[in-house]
Amino acid sequence: MKVDKETLWPIEFRKYSIDFTEEQQYLISVLEDFKLLDWKNVSGQRFNTTINGYQPDADILSLDHPMIDSIKRKIIDPISEEFWMSLSKDKISLPEGLQLIHKAWLVEYDAGSYQNLHVHKTSLFTAVWTLYREEQDDLAGQIHLHNPIVGSYTLGFFQESKKITAKENEILVFPSWIAHNVTPCTAKRIVFVWDTMAIPKNA
Ligand SMILES: [Fe+2]
Repeated sequence: MKVDKETLWPIEFRKYSIDFTEEQQYLISVLEDFKLLDWKNVSGQRFNTTINGYQPDADILSLDHPMIDSIKRKIIDPISEEFWMSLSKDKISLPEGLQLIHKAWLVEYDAGSYQNLHVHKTSLFTAVWTLYREEQDDLAGQIHLHNPIVGSYTLGFFQESKKITAKENEILVFPSWIAHNVTPCTAKRIVFVWDTMAIPKNA
């Protein structure tokens, strides 16, 4: 697994390049199964910032399947643990007795699908794994991370943002309180997103 680290105003985000073809194919097949079942689509629903596209109303990590165990063990756990440690650096000591928990979902974008500006209010950090990406127009299907420094908001829509075009099998991880959006896609793009929270071990 290759890790690129970058510090941004001055928060840290990371991009992990991974190679887990079986897990990637499994997640794409799960999305196809939900579509065949005509499973409820929460895209465009109240409090959901996905516009158009397909987001099945399901916590993917609750599925009972060996591949889900493999995804947790090989991908989610190590990346989340490493990113959590990186957030503390030497500024604070992490409290004892906490454990990380995760929830995850799948989103399929098609031409015209996008994600409004939002934060994930109840989470520590967010990871976005690009499972599939068709060739898109320039600037389409980009994740924008917005500068959280208050002064930058005086720029309104022109506020500073980091624009990222993630490739297949790249996982972008950033603190959940960073405002972010996805620009309209011009072709299909599938992502698997997980949110991480810390809770007491005996909770
Ligand atoms: Fe998001």
